[in-house]
Amino acid sequence: MNPARDALLWASSNRWLREHLPRHRFVRATVARFMPGERMEDAIEAARGLALDGIAATFTYLGENVEERADADAIAEHYLRLFDLIEERGLDAEVSVKPTHLGLDLDPEDTYRRLRPLAQRAAALGRHLFLDMESAPYVDPTLALYRRLLEEFENIGLCIQAYLRRTPRDLADLLAAGASVRLVKGAYRESKDVAIRERSAIRSIFGRLAFEFLRWGGGGRLALATHDVGLLSEIERRAAAAGFGRDAYEIQMLYGIRVADQRRLVREGYRVRVLIAYGDHWYPWFMRRMAERPANVWFAVRNLVARR
Ligand code: FDA
Repeated sequence: MNPARDALLWASSNRWLREHLPRHRFVRATVARFMPGERMEDAIEAARGLALDGIAATFTYLGENVEERADADAIAEHYLRLFDLIEERGLDAEVSVKPTHLGLDLDPEDTYRRLRPLAQRAAALGRHLFLDMESAPYVDPTLALYRRLLEEFENIGLCIQAYLRRTPRDLADLLAAGASVRLVKGAYRESKDVAIRERSAIRSIFGRLAFEFLRWGGGGRLALATHDVGLLSEIERRAAAAGFGRDAYEIQMLYGIRVADQRRLVREGYRVRVLIAYGDHWYPWFMRRMAERPANVWFAVRNLVARR
C-alpha cells in the first residue's frame, strides 16, 4: 500500500483531526473541488447543470456513524425531503445512503425501519435507492438490510467493493437474488486479510466481476463506478466482443473528478451518472477522496499558500 494513502485514510478516521481540520479555510477551499456546496439546494443546482450535458445524478447527504437515534431519524426525514425536491424539479436523480448514517451502529432494526420509507418513496418515483458500502465490519449487516429490502422492493441497489476478498462470493449470491449493483474498487483502510491491496490485482478483479454480472444477465442494473478510464475501456472492449452494447451498464463518477471524461463518455454513447455529495459532515468523506489521489494534497497546499 502507498504510505501517503495509508496516512490519509488513517487521518480520515481520527477524531481530533475531524474536529480541527475542517475549521481551516484552505481545507474548506479544497473541499469545494469535490462538493458543489453544503446545502441540499446546492446539490440540486449541480444536478441541473449536469443534466444539460446529459448526465444523471445520485445524491448523498454526507455523514456516517451517527451516535444518537434522533440524529438518524432526522437524516431519514432529510432524505424524504430530498425525494420531494427530486420530484418537484423533475430530475433524473437517485439517492445513495450510508447505513451507519441511518443508525446501523445503534440498532439494525431501527435502520431498516428508517430505510423502508425511503425505498417506498423511491419506488413511487420510479427511482432507485442505493446503499453505500462502508468498511468491512459493516458488510454483513449491510447485506442483511439489502436482502430484506429487496424482498419487498425491486428498486434497491447495493455498492460492492472489488478489493474485498469476499466480494466474488457475495456477488454470486447477489446475482441469484436479482440485485442491482454499483461496483467500486473500495475506499477504506482494510487489513490485508480482508482486502487485496495491489492496485493491479484490484483492477483485474473489478473487470472480472463486471463481466460476471453482464454474463449472468439477471434482472438488476450494473453501474461501474470508477474514474479509471483505462479500465473502463478494457471492460468495454471485452463486453463488445461478447456482444454487449454500451447501454448494458452505466458509468458512475464523483462530482468534480474527471469532468472532461464524464462528458466525453456521454458523447460516446454511455449512460453516465455523477454522485453529488453535500452536507456539512464532509471530513471523513473528503479525506477518503484525498487518499484516492494523494497528489490532491498539493491542491490543498496551494490553497494554503494562496491564502497567506
Ligand atoms: P483510481 O483510484 O485508480 O483512480 C483512477 C484515476 O482517477 C486516478 O489516477 C485519478 O486521475 C482519478 N481519481 C480517482 N480518484 C480521485 C480523486 N479522489 N481525486 C482526483 N482524481 C481522482 N467506495 C466505497 O468503499 N463505498 C462506496 O459506497 C463507494 N461509492 C462510490 C460511488 C461512486 C459513484 C464512485 C465513483 C466511487 C465510490 N466509491 C465508494 C469510491 C471507490 O471505492 C474508489 O475509492 C474511488 O472511486 C477511486 O477509485 P477509482 O476506481 O476511481 O480508481
